[in-house]
Amino acid sequence: MSLLGASPARAEYGDVVINNFSDAAGMRPVVFPHWFHRVRFRCKVCHADLGFQFKAGGNQINMVKIIDGQFCGACHNGELAWSVENCNLCHSAKPGTGTHVHESTLQKLAPTTPPATTPVAAVPPAAAAKK
Ligand code: HEC
Ligand code: HEC
Ligand code: HEC
Repeated sequence: MSLLGASPARAEYGDVVINNFSDAAGMRPVVFPHWFHRVRFRCKVCHADLGFQFKAGGNQINMVKIIDGQFCGACHNGELAWSVENCNLCHSAKPGTGTHVHESTLQKLAPTTPPATTPVAAVPPAAAAKK
């Protein structure tokens, strides 16, 4: 799966990496492709109805809630969208990548090689400062 696809650079908000709990739990951090979802749903669906805060990492999301139908689980339930057993489709960021909004559509989020043994610096300082 390509998260970036053939999309031209045009998103006001890029992909969001969510890593409040993943690293600590030994899972790869989550990549949420914001634009992909925005073209399919109104902002309100997620930011009002489902209660997602307008802030990267601003939600306390865990798998119990997701399986219970909250947050991502409201759709990723095997009906509206593929279900939670596809761990790697969500947990696809490089280990050690901190929570942030991805500013560049050119930078690769998903590793093509096995993770390095040393955690990689998540956000380049320049990108962090920009955000
Ligand atoms: C639809 C997207 C999605 C799928 C599929 C998914 N997760 Fe998650 N998962 C998340 C999000 C979002 C978080 C919160 C990430 C964070 O803050 O670090 C999370 C957090 C976690 C956490 C840390 C919090 C907790 O609940 O303990 C673990 C462990 C985890 N997932 C395991 C899994 C496993 C194992 C699978 C497959 C059986 C899976 N996830 C599938 C989205 C997903
Ligand atoms: C399918 C669900 C979904 C839809 C639709 C959606 N968002 Fe989001 N949005 C999210 C999630 C998930 C996050 C990241 C939250 C997190 O990290 O916990 C987010 C984060 C954000 C952020 C914070 C980014 C930052 O800088 O921290 C903004 C702003 C935002 N969305 C605006 C919008 C707008 C405007 C729309 C409609 C044009 C929209 N969203 C549609 C789910 C959605
Ligand atoms: C409002 C419904 C909705 C919510 C909420 C939602 N998704 Fe999705 N998501 C979808 C749909 C629909 C698809 C397309 C499924 C398909 O192609 O079969 C999708 C696809 C995806 C994809 C694959 C994108 C691609 O390029 O193919 C990822 C990754 C993903 N979602 C992650 C998440 C994560 C992580 C969350 C929670 C933070 C989340 N989604 C919340 C509806 C949702």
